[in-house]
Amino acid sequence: MITQDELVVNGPRPLRGRLRLPGDKGISHRALLAAALADGLSVIERIASGDDVVRTQRALEALGVEIHRTYQEVRVKGLGIDELREPTGPIDCGNSGTTMRMLTGLLAGRPFRTTLTGDDSLRERPMRRVITPLRAMGAHITGRDDNYAPLIIDGNALHGARVELEVASGQVKSAVVLAGLQASGASEIVEPAPSRDHTERLFAAVGAPVEKPDARATRVAPGAPHAFYGVMPGDPSSAAFFVVATTITPGSHLVLEDVLLNPGRIAFVDVLAEMGARISIVPRGERLGEPVGDLEIEAAPLQGADFTATESIIDEVPVLAVAAAFAEGTTTIRDVTELRVKESNRLATVEQELGQLGVTVEETDGGLVVHGGAPRAATLKSHGDHRIGMAAAVAANAIEGESQIRGWSSVAVSYPDFAETLEHLSAT
Ligand code: S3P
Repeated sequence: MITQDELVVNGPRPLRGRLRLPGDKGISHRALLAAALADGLSVIERIASGDDVVRTQRALEALGVEIHRTYQEVRVKGLGIDELREPTGPIDCGNSGTTMRMLTGLLAGRPFRTTLTGDDSLRERPMRRVITPLRAMGAHITGRDDNYAPLIIDGNALHGARVELEVASGQVKSAVVLAGLQASGASEIVEPAPSRDHTERLFAAVGAPVEKPDARATRVAPGAPHAFYGVMPGDPSSAAFFVVATTITPGSHLVLEDVLLNPGRIAFVDVLAEMGARISIVPRGERLGEPVGDLEIEAAPLQGADFTATESIIDEVPVLAVAAAFAEGTTTIRDVTELRVKESNRLATVEQELGQLGVTVEETDGGLVVHGGAPRAATLKSHGDHRIGMAAAVAANAIEGESQIRGWSSVAVSYPDFAETLEHLSAT
């Protein structure tokens, strides 16, 4: 039940049934961008439902692209990159880091000035990581303290470059790809570690000159995608909440249908399996260059584990920490410093909310140690961060008694219907 921005959960509530999740958020952003840059009509079905992707849509509309959206289908009348026009005011990216960073790359090569801004959280997230590589291609971008939004992008002609990124980031790499498509020569991007490769897969699938010679490198040449029809695969980062909820709530059994199985996104399944979770993966084929399939999950007791928070697992750390809170023994999550610069400082917010549940969490040398135990009902907070809100609801769902999650509306960024879906699965 949701009242006054608070979700009330009475647990434990076993989850049962089958679920088709909303489309993947990351691929939905990219599909809108690719469709906008193509010349002609693209149709995207089952687009992600949250506010973040709506921000990308609104931004493209502000640049003159006609987009018609019905419930989960979007029709985009692509203009071709040269026809994007100067927006009449600043573009507000809301809470969406993906929108801001990718647009920065796209607009760096357009012949007009754009200002990008966002909400309080986004204006505190680091942007130098995207400004610096784009400058190496000739971009003119300024920001507060040379690092924070509002960003002012004075678009101009870009040249191709070999760019070495300081952080492994799917968003930053994609920004450079979008700049590279408009540059005067070929570009190569090299990352310190592999990041999610949706831009490479999607843009190559729709005819843009983007290649992946190896896991850490991406090549892009000047060119454009062609118009396409695509059905977005289910979002594995949203799936992770239901996978953990099913695992930790005794009596649960759930099938998640048509989920994105990109290896850079479902590494959380391996971590949970190592902890004792019962999850089977049934591959069902490929769409727009991405593997898709079903996940079948049954409740199971968990043991602590030791794993590293690589880019392929970073968004799932809050809910993996919830799994660890219900596991027997200690879980160590290594290399978690990037969590500090997400939608909230997730190191602090995970520690605080698990603490509310009576679970001890320690920070040690770039790592997070969760001492599993018997979490108890509590009043929790989202801290304005969708993934913290949903992770709290997953914990509350498995705990005896009534818990509250305050600031529930922030969940709308990626999964507006999350509470209703959880309710529905626990009633069947
Ligand atoms: C994303 C990349 C990751 C991830 C974010 C989405 C993307 O961020 O945390 O939720 O769509 O490329 P970084 O690029 O900052 O690592």
